Amino acid sequence: MTTYIVLLGPPGAGKGTQAEVISDRLKLAHISSGDIFRENLKNETDLGKLAQGYMNRGELVPDDVTIAMIRERLTRPDCAQGAVLDGFPRTPAQATALDGMLKELGGTVRCVPYINVPSEVLVSRLSGRWTCQQGHVYHVVFNPPQVAGKCDVDGLELYQREDDQPATVERRIRVYLEQTSPLIEYYRERGLLREVDGTQAIDQVTADLLAAIQKG
Ligand code: AP5
Ligand code: MG
Repeated sequence: MTTYIVLLGPPGAGKGTQAEVISDRLKLAHISSGDIFRENLKNETDLGKLAQGYMNRGELVPDDVTIAMIRERLTRPDCAQGAVLDGFPRTPAQATALDGMLKELGGTVRCVPYINVPSEVLVSRLSGRWTCQQGHVYHVVFNPPQVAGKCDVDGLELYQREDDQPATVERRIRVYLEQTSPLIEYYRERGLLREVDGTQAIDQVTADLLAAIQKG
């Protein structure tokens, strides 16, 4: 049976950090819409060029483009057992589209852990974040790499994301509250939402998420 898990939470909640560990433990693909856009940006593809302006402004890339991108990603062989979705869906239209896509693939969303972190904590998380080109995530204080400036996993140089500038972070949080937070109710109504306290230490959040997923 395929297992699809949607990680919900504001920018900086720890979706990427947790999706990496959880997908590894559960042997599922990790699909990060933001990472796919950033990969396209780096490779200067048409999709990357289209997404760039939206991302730099802290706005959402249009639904039709994003949905088509995820539809294609979900059919790849590494998703045969399912996937942990990190950053998708982000609007009600995306959530409805996901339900349709999974139906076509013979699956459904199994559960939706919501990593709850208040807005005032998010700013310090994002201003101290360093990332590698493969999407591995660190924090200068909360989760430093073993060697400063280098990724523990692949040795790649770490960089700060363009959209982690304070003004853009503020915009991203606003966009989240306006366009994405309605999904909390969408999934609660369907009995799929599992709230986890995302202000705890990283390992404790992982433990709570795994426990929530195990309960189904
Ligand atoms: P995306 O890349 O998805 O960014 P985001 O949702 O804003 O989320 P982040 O990646 O910033 O945060 P995160 O929750 O992954 O936290 P992380 O684990 O890194 O999207 C970027 C852009 O792409 C969007 O703005 C939009 O333009 C576009 N886009 C993407 N998806 C889209 C979609 N579906 N539709 C339309 N447009 C889309 O952790 C953050 C920091 O905190 C790190 O430094 C980490 O080390 C630290 N940390 C993590 N957990 C803890 C903890 N428990 N305690 C202390 N520190 C912690
Ligand atoms: Mg992320």
